[in-house]
Amino acid sequence: MVTVRSFEAGDLDRCVKIVRTTMDAQDGRACRRELSGILEGTKGGRCWVAEEDGTVIGLVGIMRDDEVDDIVWLGYFAVDPAHHRRGLGKQLFELAVEAARDGNNRRLYVDTSSTAPFTAARAFYKAMGLSHDATLPDFYGKGEDQLFFCLPLRD
Ligand SMILES: CC(C)(COP(=O)(O)OP(=O)(O)OC[C@H]1O[C@@H](n2cnc3c(N)ncnc32)[C@H](O)[C@@H]1OP(=O)(O)O)[C@@H](O)C(=O)NCCC(=O)NCCS
Repeated sequence: MVTVRSFEAGDLDRCVKIVRTTMDAQDGRACRRELSGILEGTKGGRCWVAEEDGTVIGLVGIMRDDEVDDIVWLGYFAVDPAHHRRGLGKQLFELAVEAARDGNNRRLYVDTSSTAPFTAARAFYKAMGLSHDATLPDFYGKGEDQLFFCLPLRD
């Protein structure tokens, strides 16, 4: 059975591994930095994990925007590839959205890439009702755009 719970210190290495495997080493390092900041209390944000038979198989987090009070960003979002298309991403995402709404936030944003490894993420965000609001062409390098998706939470 899959259970979803708050991220704890003992989950750090496993979470970084899932992010490194599904994205790349740089994303893995960024994830370690951000999640360590949450554990140390130096970074505002929350993270949850999905666990099955004692193994963490997915994670999601929300981070407060640095400048705008009622905006949150989705981050550290990944599911172990062996468990894709089981509805885990949706379960984690809905939990993050619920927490963002409870915090009276106005919008949730997520940024992703236009490249092939993020095809599933783009399809997922569209399936969850997010709108593709902006593109930074060639942001990550030639032919690699940064895409911003948005979910309005209230007016
Ligand atoms: C994005 C991700 C977290 C989705 O996790 P998941 O558990 O496989 O997603 P779900 O099973 O909850 O999918 C929900 C819906 O999203 C859409 N979707 C998900 N993956 C898709 C894919 N590969 N192609 C098309 N649609 C997809 C479908 O509509 C799906 O519903 P369905 O299975 O009933 O058709 C997962 O693909 C992943 O870890 N990707 C790599 C890491 C990543 O890119 N993270 C985001 C960084 S911005």
